[in-house]
Amino acid sequence: MFVVHFLAEQYKTLPILVNHDTCSGKVYIVTGANAGLGLETARHLVRCSAARVILAVRNLTAGEEAKLDIERTTGRNGVAEVWHLDLASFASVQAFAAKASSELEQLDGFVANAGILLDKFGLSEGYETSMTVDVISTMLLSMLMMPKLVESARRSGTEPHLVFVVSALRFTAQKGLAKGGQEDIFKGLNDEKRANMDSRFALTKLVEMYAVREFASLLPADKTGVIINMVSPGLCSTGLGREARTWIRASQDTLRALMARTAEQGSRTILHGAAAGRDSHGTHLSGCEIKEYWLPKWMTDADGQRKQKQIWKELVAKMEAVKPGCTTAL
Ligand SMILES: NC(=O)c1ccc[n+]([C@@H]2O[C@H](COP(=O)([O-])OP(=O)(O)OC[C@H]3O[C@@H](n4cnc5c(N)ncnc54)[C@H](OP(=O)(O)O)[C@@H]3O)[C@@H](O)[C@H]2O)c1
Repeated sequence: MFVVHFLAEQYKTLPILVNHDTCSGKVYIVTGANAGLGLETARHLVRCSAARVILAVRNLTAGEEAKLDIERTTGRNGVAEVWHLDLASFASVQAFAAKASSELEQLDGFVANAGILLDKFGLSEGYETSMTVDVISTMLLSMLMMPKLVESARRSGTEPHLVFVVSALRFTAQKGLAKGGQEDIFKGLNDEKRANMDSRFALTKLVEMYAVREFASLLPADKTGVIINMVSPGLCSTGLGREARTWIRASQDTLRALMARTAEQGSRTILHGAAAGRDSHGTHLSGCEIKEYWLPKWMTDADGQRKQKQIWKELVAKMEAVKPGCTTAL
């Protein structure tokens, strides 16, 4: 049934749910904003009168090109700024968070968009690289940005947003996790011999989603003033997977030719996350609507809950090892 919903949604024209009134004077960070969905999200925010949009990128040259492109197409100069962020490096994550905490007076939206699809096993900071980039660093950076988001909520009386870009593909990855939540899940994912890299992207996004659900449940919007949600952007024509083997790229290209959204259409789902109301807190969004009913039962039943808590427990230990006290600061 999910496949039918997913396919039907791909062909929908999506609304743009941000405008001058929702963005005027606001400050946003978009990770991975030099290309694809991140670039189009940043472009919309600049066009909608945001005061500052930080393009958080690992390649500064690509970031500067994106900034010029945004300025040329929106006619708004001096709004987009390029800051360095490499999610494969914990030092870079901490340096970025320190800069943002000290240099930004307010933060109205943090879009955790950057992600990678790898089909070869490799390590960054001791963990399989896509787990480091999409899960550990993404959660660490979000954790480190929470105090600024909370402070902005208190000072301005508005509700800042923290939006994670996940993927509906994760629903195919159930078998990739250790059974019962007893085993050290990240240790299992770090075992090169057991790793099926053809489905690693879906598994990474599944782990990210469990983590976001637990993170949001521990930080309710009525206590922090910050709305945390996650968005599946659908299948979009972007550079995602460009490093993958030929057959994966070829199958992606075929699927994309048949049914992909443009990156601009896909960015509208992220903009929805950045403007959605409090009822979106902790939920899964797709096609510019809350789509909790897309979650398979095995994610939310008792075993799913155990896995979610286990993943969070392991993540907390990893984040604390990098930056002691970061998970208790709030
Ligand atoms: N496209 C889809 O169909 C689809 C579907 C579901 C979910 N998503 C998710 O949407 C998000 C955006 O992806 P996209 O489709 O727009 O792909 P994309 O065009 O490849 O963009 C990904 C962005 O993430 C950046 N990035 C990768 N590794 C990074 C690192 N170590 N540190 C900092 N930035 C890094 C990339 O930078 P570089 O340019 O330097 O590589 C790029 O800016 C991802 O989280 C992806 O998983 C996409």
